[in-house]
Amino acid sequence: MHCHLEGCVPPETARRLAEGHGVTLPAGARDGGDRYLFRNFDEGLEIYVAVSKSMQTQDDFRAVTYDSLLTGAEGGLRYREIAFNPQNHPELTYAEMMDGILAGVREARAKVGVESRIVVAINRELGGEAALELVREVLAHPHDEVVAIGLDSNELAGRPSEFVAAYDLAREAGLKLTAHAGEHGDSTEMVECLDLLRVDRIDHGYAALLDPELLSRTVASQIPYSACWFIDYPELEVEGRRRDVAAMAAAGLNMCLNSDDPALIGPELHEDFIDAAVHLGWTVEDAEKYALAGLDACFADDVTVARLR
Ligand code: ADE
Ligand code: ZN
Repeated sequence: MHCHLEGCVPPETARRLAEGHGVTLPAGARDGGDRYLFRNFDEGLEIYVAVSKSMQTQDDFRAVTYDSLLTGAEGGLRYREIAFNPQNHPELTYAEMMDGILAGVREARAKVGVESRIVVAINRELGGEAALELVREVLAHPHDEVVAIGLDSNELAGRPSEFVAAYDLAREAGLKLTAHAGEHGDSTEMVECLDLLRVDRIDHGYAALLDPELLSRTVASQIPYSACWFIDYPELEVEGRRRDVAAMAAAGLNMCLNSDDPALIGPELHEDFIDAAVHLGWTVEDAEKYALAGLDACFADDVTVARLR
C-alpha cells in the first residue's frame, strides 16, 4: 500500500542510470555495493532525490516500474500501490512519466499477473501552490490506474494545512487521499491530515501512540494506517519501530504492513512479513489478517479487490 517507486531502484541500477544521464550520486549511493549507506532520514532522502534525478526518460520509468513489480512478485506480491513524486523529475512532463510508469505496470501485469495502482505524491517541501498545480496536471491527464494523491518528503517542512486546496480539488475529482504523517512529526500533523485534508488513509502514523485522544478516535473510525515495519538508519532504532508497530496493532488500530522504500530503506514486503511474524509471534492466520487489512486499505476498485482476495 505504501511503496515509493524511486525507493525501489537498487543501487546498481541507480548508478547505471546516473552515469548514463551525467548525474552525480551522493557517496552513500556510490560506495555501498548492493546497499545504500545513510545514517538518518535526511541522508536517505538526499539519496532518494538523487536517484529520482537519475530517472530521466520515459523508458527509465517503464523499466524501474516493471523491475519493482517483478521483484515484488518474486516474493509473492500480488498488488502494489506505487507512489511517485513527479515534482522531483523536472526533465520530464507528468504525461511522459505516467506513460512510462503505465507501460511498466501493463508489462508486469501481462508477465506475472501482479496488479498495481498509482498514488501521485506531493513533495511537501515545495508548498501548497506547487501542489495545487500538480493536482491540476493530474486531472488534465486522467488514467484509470491513478487512484490517489499523497503527501511525502520531509514531514518537518511546512504543515498539512498548506495543502487544503490541492486535497479539496483531488477529492472533488474522485481521487482518494493519503498523506505521510506522524513518522517524524507529532500527532497534531495527523489531526490536520484528518480534519483539514480529510484523508482516507494515514501513511506511518506512529505519533498516534503518544496522543490518547487521536488514538481512540482512529481506533473508533478504523481509518487505515499504512505502517512500515523496517527502518535501517543507524541513528534510528529498528527496535523502536518494531515496538511502535506492535503497539499500534495491540491498540486496535486498523493497520497494515508496508515496505515504504524496499531498495532504499528495507527489504521487500515478504521479508517484512517474515521479520514481523518472528518478532511478534504471528501465526500464518495473523500474517493473513494483516495482508488482507492491506487489501482493504487499498484504493483499487471493488472488482479488482475481490479478485485479489
Ligand atoms: N519519500 C520516499 N520515502 C519516504 C518516506 N519514508 N517518508 C517520506 N517521504 C519519502
Ligand atoms: Zn513513505
